[in-house]
Parts: sequence; C-alpha cells; structure tokens
Amino acid sequence: MLTPHDLKIHKLLRLFSPLVRPIVNIPARRRLRKAVNIADLRLCAESRLHKMCFGYLDSGGDDEITIRRNKDAYTQLEMHFKVLSGLSPPLDLSTTIFGSKVDIPFFASPTAGNKMFHMDGESAVATASKVNNSVYCLSSLATTSVDDIAKILTPEHPKLFQVYVWKDRDILRDILGKAKAGGIQTMALTVDFSWYGNRERDIRNNFTIPPSYSLQQCIEAIKAPAWTWDFLSNPPYNYALLDKDVPADSLASFVNSQLYPQFSWEDAKWLCEEWTHGPKAIKGICRPEDAVKALECGFTTIWVSNHGGRQLDTSPATIDVLPAIRKAVGPNVEVIHDGGIQRGTDIAKAIALGADGVAIGKPYLYGLAAGGTPGVLRTFDILRIELDRAMGLLGCGTIEELKKEGPELIKRREMSLRDCQGARYSKAGMI
Ligand SMILES: Cc1cc2nc3c(=O)[nH]c(=O)nc-3n(C[C@H](O)[C@H](O)[C@H](O)COP(=O)(O)O)c2cc1C
Repeated sequence: MLTPHDLKIHKLLRLFSPLVRPIVNIPARRRLRKAVNIADLRLCAESRLHKMCFGYLDSGGDDEITIRRNKDAYTQLEMHFKVLSGLSPPLDLSTTIFGSKVDIPFFASPTAGNKMFHMDGESAVATASKVNNSVYCLSSLATTSVDDIAKILTPEHPKLFQVYVWKDRDILRDILGKAKAGGIQTMALTVDFSWYGNRERDIRNNFTIPPSYSLQQCIEAIKAPAWTWDFLSNPPYNYALLDKDVPADSLASFVNSQLYPQFSWEDAKWLCEEWTHGPKAIKGICRPEDAVKALECGFTTIWVSNHGGRQLDTSPATIDVLPAIRKAVGPNVEVIHDGGIQRGTDIAKAIALGADGVAIGKPYLYGLAAGGTPGVLRTFDILRIELDRAMGLLGCGTIEELKKEGPELIKRREMSLRDCQGARYSKAGMI
C-alpha cells in the first residue's frame, strides 16, 4: 500500500507547517506550561502522543511490576535530614561523570527512536544536555546521526554511545567506528536486552514503526493532531546510525534478527578491547557478582539498571540493589544508577546510596513527547530544582558531601501497616 510518505505528501504539507503547527500545538503548549512535576509531564505526553507511541514509551514487561517497584522503592527510603547547615542556594550540583566535569549529577539515558515522540527527537535532548552541561547519551537505535549531534554539542562535551548485544561483529565494529569518528568518548554495552521484553500494551495497540494505516491507527492519529501533523509533514525517520537508506519499518526486523542471546562475557571482553579511547560502561547490572565480573572483563563503569522495568518483570527495584553493588565494587569504581526516578529526592537517595551519576529515561521522554525541546528543558529544570531543594533540606551542600554522608542520612523505613504502594500523586491522582 502506498503511504503519504511514499507519495511525498510531506513535502507539500511542510509548506503549511509555519501556519498549522503552532495552531495544532496550542493545547500541548498550554498543558506544558502548567506542568509542575514529572507526573504532570507524563499526562501531557499522553495527551499529545499517538496512543501506540505513548504505550511504547510508558510500558514495561509483563504485568509492569518492576516499573512500579522501581518507583515505589524510593518511597521506602527516609531522609534523616540535618538542620542549620548554613547553606546558600543554589547549591553546587557539579560532579565528575565518565571523567568529565558536569554541572548536574543526572543525565538523559540512551533511548531508541526519539523522533517517534516528537520531531525534535534526539536533538532536543542534546540541546538540554548542552544547556545543563550534563552527559549526552546516544542510543544505537537513535533517529538522529552522530554528525547532527556534533552540530549541537562541542567536541569536548561528554558524550556516550550505547550498543546492544548484537550478533554481527562487523556491524558492531562499524557502529563503534562511527561513534568514535563523531567524537564520542564513552561506550556503554546494554546487557539486559538479549531478548525483547514482553510489552503487552504494544501488542494490544498493534505497535509498529512507523504506524500502519489501519482503521485503528488512523482513528488514534485523528485524536492526536499535533503528533500527526509532525509525522505527516516531516520526512520519515530512520535509524540514523545503522543504514540511512533503509526506513525504520523494514529495519525493525533487522534489529530483531541482530539481537544475540548467546552474547557472552567473552564477546563483552572483545568489545572492551575494541573501545580503547575512553570509559567503558556495562548497562543493566543488578547483581554484585556480575558487577565484579564486568570489571574483570575490562569495563570501567558499572551501570545499575533494569531497563526501566521494560525487560524482565519482577526483577528488583534498582535502588534496592544499588548499595550491595557499590559494596562489591568498592569506593573507587564509577557506578551509574537508573530506574524509576521521578523526583529530585530520588536522585539524592541514589547518590547517597552509592551512585556517582544518575540517569533518567521516561521522565525526559515525557517532556519530549509533551512539547519537544522546551519539554525536555522543563524535565531538566524540574529535577534540578527539586534536587537542589532536596539537598538543601537534607543539609548537604555538595555532591561529594552527599556521597560521604549519604548512608547516615538515608535509611530504610521500617515496614508499617500504614504504608501503601504507589504513593505518588499528581493533580490527576495516583500514578
Ligand atoms: C522508550 C524507551 C526506549 C529505550 N531505549 C533504550 C535504548 O535504546 N538503549 C538502552 O540501553 N536503553 C534504553 N532504554 C532504557 C533507558 O536507557 C533507561 O535504562 C531506563 O529508561 C531508566 O528507567 P526510567 O525510564 O524509569 O528512568 C529505553 C527506555 C525507554 C523508556
């Protein structure tokens, strides 16, 4: 079936974009202005996105227990704050991540296909990283090329490139070569994605990249006019790092065929030997034993993650395994943490319990889907201001201080009959 993109209708619609785009985005802009926290941004994203894309962004494996667990686990940690610390706001949130000095201890985790959520795509996230002087991460399944990212970020800006456990070493070598040539200093191997997680919302929504023109998807497209205008008036997006000439839909099967469950520690060692010019992170660690093995294999950074609950459901909340992993690798190995961050207090807790840096996934994608570049900037602002306040009230003026005193300040709450799960609220209720 010929699609509007096959007929090049986007070239015609593009001419009307300066007029139509601002009009169809009026409700989204209004909602974004009113968003005060990450939960609000999630609702903004849901309102603007095609249902199928929101499902892909927001969902997890099986019953989505790990997604909820990731978030709820922070609520079980209490902040035993110090008073009268004599601090003056704004605090110094700067630290060192992947060997680079950054202004904030959190950053946007690598995520696939950003243009699916908003045509600003990865560029919006790179812009927010630039404005906040934080690490930028590019997924191998990005819809923006390394060259386009290099137009936004200086060669010195800390950049990470993420790879999957793929079958074909030539493709891995090729993609690493592109990253290196584009000035990316750090490599991360994602190891919790050797099978595709069972995302049942995607099955129900008949998720495809790009959307099909079935009746179901056309009805959903009509309900999301701002997203649909973006989609129809722009060229089709592709996985920019793999093969520019192949559209994303036919590449989906290629990506699936490349996932390699047999990928072993030996393969990981080979990959570490291929990346010689900067830090090497292993992303998706949840056991102390694996963290130690990864260091022996040649990785320099341990990234505690369960892929935001999108892979193996009922795996533990990352914040619950972080302290044991920090203990196993000792104080001098860099540890990154992600999973379930919704608040500045969550970031403070992760740093206090052993993280050198904290990555966010869904929070900035909600911002991107809600309103492109201004939406991602809003995510960073919300979390930076919340973290500043959390550290001030906790009585810690610097990230170093938070790391040093953290275990004394953050304590696990005794179980109480008054505890309930999902104690997170937005104006629309519990999330
Ligand atoms: C829509 C989406 C796409 C993702 N794509 C990737 C990816 O391409 N590579 C990767 O290593 N992790 C990917 N992740 C996982 C994130 O990097 C990160 O580990 C996770 O989102 C953190 O949890 P949070 O979403 O609760 O913050 C993705 C996550 C989401 C939500």
